[in-house]
Amino acid sequence: MTSTHWQAWHEPYADENSALSRRLRLVQQHIAAWLDRRPDEEVTVVSACAGQGHDLIGLLATRPDTRRVRATLLEYDTGNVAAAQAAAGGAGLTNLVIRQADAGRLSSYAGVVPADLVLMAGVFGNISDADVQRTINALPQMCAAGATVIWTRTRRAPDLTPAVREWLAEAGFVQDAFEAPEDARFSVGVHRFEGVPRPLDITATIFTFLP
Ligand SMILES: C[S@@+](CC[C@H](N)C(=O)[O-])C[C@H]1O[C@@H](n2cnc3c(N)ncnc32)[C@H](O)[C@@H]1O
Repeated sequence: MTSTHWQAWHEPYADENSALSRRLRLVQQHIAAWLDRRPDEEVTVVSACAGQGHDLIGLLATRPDTRRVRATLLEYDTGNVAAAQAAAGGAGLTNLVIRQADAGRLSSYAGVVPADLVLMAGVFGNISDADVQRTINALPQMCAAGATVIWTRTRRAPDLTPAVREWLAEAGFVQDAFEAPEDARFSVGVHRFEGVPRPLDITATIFTFLP
């Protein structure tokens, strides 16, 4: 099978010194810290545009407490879905489902939200600014009360992350962390939802990936 652009996108993960691997470690550290802050709790996680699931699957594979984590990965690309399924199976993650779906349509989240942790890694840099804002405004439909959103975004000029953080604040989120290493262009944000969850509007489309 020919590798698609979005399968090839994952290749730098093979190099532990790549910027993508650095970003991955930060995302995983924040997921791990989030889990450690609520030991023994049953939690739900949804990952939008999850790719091959390196962040969540890679982390859960190293932990003894995965049975309390019910996770759904939304991913469009058939090869990436297959890779994520193989990784999850290899790690024995029976509570993790990979749903082949368009994460830009809120109907794809039916039955899996509100979630306690929402991962938006590799999304905000691949959609229009207007779609970033629309997606942030829709997060209260994906988040349970007190949920956390972990997101990433390049800071390549013009840097959208100041606007992203402002839009998150306007949508009811409080910043727990914002990692923006000086020697890299990626950033990782961790925001906690302090607003009121809203019902899912399954008719809405919140983003379309740019070609
Ligand atoms: C930049 S990659 C990020 C992958 C993963 N979240 C990570 O950080 O390693 C974006 C992923 O989104 C997927 N994708 C693109 N459009 C999508 C859509 N409408 N719904 C779900 N996944 C989509 C691509 O196939 C790709 O795997």
